[in-house]
Amino acid sequence: MTVLPLASAPADLRATPDFSAQVRRGFGRQAGSYEHHARLQQAVAWRLGRLCRTLPLAAGPCADLGAGSGLLSRALVQHWPALAGRSPLQLDQCPELLARNPLGPGLLWDLNNGLPQPLERAALLVSSFALQWLDAPAPQLRHWAEQLRPGGWLVLALPTSGSFPQWHQAAARAGVACTGLGLPAAQPLLAAAAAGGVTLARQQVLRFSRPRQGGLATLRHLRQLGASASRQPPLPPGKLRRLLAHWPAGTPLTWEVLLLLGRKD
Ligand SMILES: C[S@@+](CC[C@H](N)C(=O)[O-])C[C@H]1O[C@@H](n2cnc3c(N)ncnc32)[C@H](O)[C@@H]1O
Repeated sequence: MTVLPLASAPADLRATPDFSAQVRRGFGRQAGSYEHHARLQQAVAWRLGRLCRTLPLAAGPCADLGAGSGLLSRALVQHWPALAGRSPLQLDQCPELLARNPLGPGLLWDLNNGLPQPLERAALLVSSFALQWLDAPAPQLRHWAEQLRPGGWLVLALPTSGSFPQWHQAAARAGVACTGLGLPAAQPLLAAAAAGGVTLARQQVLRFSRPRQGGLATLRHLRQLGASASRQPPLPPGKLRRLLAHWPAGTPLTWEVLLLLGRKD
């Protein structure tokens, strides 16, 4: 596994280390059971694989950004004949997840620092359920788009701001903060990709519901995924109890997911 020095990151795209480290620890702790709980991530990877299967692919570097255990790349390699024999670089900041990734090569890298130099003029940049963890998702997405070579593809999925309305409602009713990760809105992301020179071939905002969740099951599910890092301090026990009391048991948990497929002009 190669570790590139952070000093090579562009100055305007440097990481704020504390939150990044919290995210890395969260995924690292749960790496062993990530795939068991990542049903939605698996389904989205499959869908992206199907969407890509007839696309032409130019020569040049290919990478999966925030690849984790490789769910997206495995689906792409399975469905997309143009990727045969050229598995995307598996880039992630979490060594425990990369260690479970059967594809290679892997690269430990914090995406808050922009993309590493070998991905300049990439032919393919893919990413699923990772961009929302970065400090500045829209500027990073624009940077990804700018790094593509003409004709290169951007293939992206991530949860967006319409996710978890049940959590927001319960927090409002309980009069406590909603301490979930703040998710980016879909529209500024689409604008960022376009500003980076990518023409959108496909864009969809999908809603997926996990039935019979409620508060406790939701928080447990996110913890089991390793996805419980937050920029806000956790609720103290009294407020947490109030939140759960206002979160009806058995309500579904709704994810809003942006799917984007675009080509560099
Ligand atoms: C929910 S997992 C998704 C993994 C994989 N793409 C999938 O679809 O299963 C989020 C991934 O983003 C990675 N990640 C989060 N913040 C990151 C950062 N700043 N730099 C690189 N990877 C990051 C995590 O380590 C984790 O592997």
